[in-house]
Amino acid sequence: MADRAIISSVANVIFGPSFPPNTSVDLRILDKHLYSRVMTYLSLVDKSSTGVWPGRPLVKDFIDAVRSYDLSDEDRAAIFISSFWGFAAASANVTSWLIVFLLYHPTALAKVRNEVDSTMRERYHDDAFKLIEDPEAFGPSSFPIIESAVNETLRLTSNATPFRQATCDLNLVHGNTSVPIKDGDFLMANLRAQHFDPVVYPRPQDFIVDRFLASSQAEHTGVKPGTQPFFGFGAGKHACKGRLFAIRHIKAFVALLVYLVNIELDGGEQGLKIPSLNERSLNVAQMSRDIKIRTKRRHREDTR
Ligand code: HEM
Repeated sequence: MADRAIISSVANVIFGPSFPPNTSVDLRILDKHLYSRVMTYLSLVDKSSTGVWPGRPLVKDFIDAVRSYDLSDEDRAAIFISSFWGFAAASANVTSWLIVFLLYHPTALAKVRNEVDSTMRERYHDDAFKLIEDPEAFGPSSFPIIESAVNETLRLTSNATPFRQATCDLNLVHGNTSVPIKDGDFLMANLRAQHFDPVVYPRPQDFIVDRFLASSQAEHTGVKPGTQPFFGFGAGKHACKGRLFAIRHIKAFVALLVYLVNIELDGGEQGLKIPSLNERSLNVAQMSRDIKIRTKRRHREDTR
């Protein structure tokens, strides 16, 4: 559910109406026809025969940038598919995990629902259209509990191993030991070691929905708010360039889902353990199994 929603919303807003539909299925089964569909799409955008949508300048810039390299149409499509994958894949995984964590932690779900319902009531007069029309609705200061939940989800599920290449000889000092690094050596970071350090994150295996809220950080960790080492989006000069977009996107999906529908685990899930991380996945781990849920509409929206 989450991957389809995340992928189709990116496709609608950024890639426009002529982007091939059902791409989430094509990507899942790695359908070989996706290449030709993307080639057709790129050529339509290039010929300006596809109308106007918010992400059009970005797609045009991509087409112009790759034109300067002598690439075949198929290679251009392949690069586009990998950028498209970058736009959606990690966000879709984080969103799926976040929903599963909420379903397995009813108190956390109640906190999120309370935040969403009160924001909707006080700020948007219970009108979901007012929410989606507000450009700041999902900005950095909005829905702080959902934002904390995104970080907490990433802390538990990120298996990214960012790497860097040393540009000079140096000694990496840690406590009383030091490791000599030579110019040109590659270094890989073990983020999970940091994210599961009980000194930094007490009860590291637990999903604590408001762990990253400034107001509760000191209480949970004894660490000054905002100073916890967190590397879900990497760090430094090469930290994730799409992180603000990704957080907004996930917030939007979770807030609307929680506001518009009641979600619960399907009866058959009761008693089953939360899925484990599939360690053979990149960046954000995939789930070891699918989860069945039931949804029921909470609010009747008009169809403006
Ligand atoms: C929840 C979603 C996402 C997660 C967890 C994530 C995570 C990461 C991580 C761990 C890195 C490596 C950072 C490092 O080496 O220090 C990275 C790099 C990058 N990400 Fe993301 N990412 C997400 C979404 C996105 C999106 C939506 C975009 C584009 C719109 C994007 C674009 C990039 C780019 C361009 C880099 C390379 C940055 C560089 O090397 O300078 N990411 N991401």
